[in-house]
Amino acid sequence: NGSLLIDNHGRKINYLRLAVTDKCNLRCFYCMPEDGLHWLSRTELMSYEEMLRSCSLLVKMGIEKIRITGGEPFVRKDIMQLLTAISELDGLKELSLTTNGVLTAPHVPELKRIGVRSVNLSLDTLDANRFFTITRRDEFAQVMATLEALLKHGIEVKINAVVMDGKNTQDILPLVQMTKELPVSVRFIEEMPFNGDGHVYTGLQWDYIRILEEIKSHYPQIQKLPDPSYSTAYNYQIPGHQGTVGIIAAYSRTFCGTCNRIRITPQGELKTCLYDDGGLNMKAMMRTGANDDELQTVLLNAVNHRAKDGWEAERTRVVHPGIHESMATIGG
Ligand code: GTP
Ligand code: 5AD
Ligand code: SF4
Repeated sequence: NGSLLIDNHGRKINYLRLAVTDKCNLRCFYCMPEDGLHWLSRTELMSYEEMLRSCSLLVKMGIEKIRITGGEPFVRKDIMQLLTAISELDGLKELSLTTNGVLTAPHVPELKRIGVRSVNLSLDTLDANRFFTITRRDEFAQVMATLEALLKHGIEVKINAVVMDGKNTQDILPLVQMTKELPVSVRFIEEMPFNGDGHVYTGLQWDYIRILEEIKSHYPQIQKLPDPSYSTAYNYQIPGHQGTVGIIAAYSRTFCGTCNRIRITPQGELKTCLYDDGGLNMKAMMRTGANDDELQTVLLNAVNHRAKDGWEAERTRVVHPGIHESMATIGG
């Protein structure tokens, strides 16, 4: 039944972000505390069967692209089985994933085989020591091996770098320089306050304007590229470079007006905005015997009551967990 998913503000929703676990093998301080989070138990997590059922239903309703996120997807057991099953859904045009790259390299040939064309890799620095300071784990070499494997297999790579005052702003220019020789898209992200109490968020120090000015001060020749209408990033290119540069105003939320995405959290809640409180629990409904028609009805209802932007979603929350939330439980 095609494209049923038009929200109450006329935005077509064709992109699902599915977070398959809250667990992670890194401890990025902007995402979670040193000790990790209160991990969800196995029964709190959606099962693969429940995830596949949700995806299948949503693809029938108009979802064309699914991005697997976490936590870290490869920390969940047998994740390739789920990815393979999702890749076979009729009507799905694009399957991709966001990963920290620690465990990913050995899976790259299989990702290629099942049709994954693009992967977003989280990498905030090109310096092994700073990598350790930011992630509290010594896994830099593994992440770089993943980058190499992805490029070798011709999978498109977007590198996500969260810009943190006093932590990695010296990496901005080297990361831009990386686009000279490598066909990657390096995207700088404004830091958001979802850090699971990992550190005190002192307000946004590096907004997208400041990040762009820093880049322009060394690359005055930088050129604006046209952005797809649903893009989270403002895209640029340095003439002569193979790759591109993007800036994601995640905190400033400049892209809400064309937002085409919904999320399912690891515990099975549907979020129609990163900033809402995910009232609709798909997992609970499935476990109490809801049929596909009933699920479809509640999904349509959620999409028809969607906040106009992140500010409205935040204002209209019933639950206010504030910064106790982590990207790992929301699904990036
Ligand atoms: P593609 O456009 O498919 O490459 O994905 P993406 O940029 O949406 O996904 P990715 O997982 O790489 O996320 C990059 C950054 O954008 C992360 O820090 C996200 O949290 C942020 N982001 C993604 N979606 C939203 C959103 O709906 N709202 C806000 N404010 N930030 C978002
Ligand atoms: N602010 C901005 N981006 C974040 N991410 C995780 N936590 C935050 C935060 N507090 C990013 C990761 C990953 C993406 C899915 O979300 O770096 O690339
Ligand atoms: Fe793990 Fe990603 Fe959170 Fe870092 S940002 S701790 S890699 S889930």
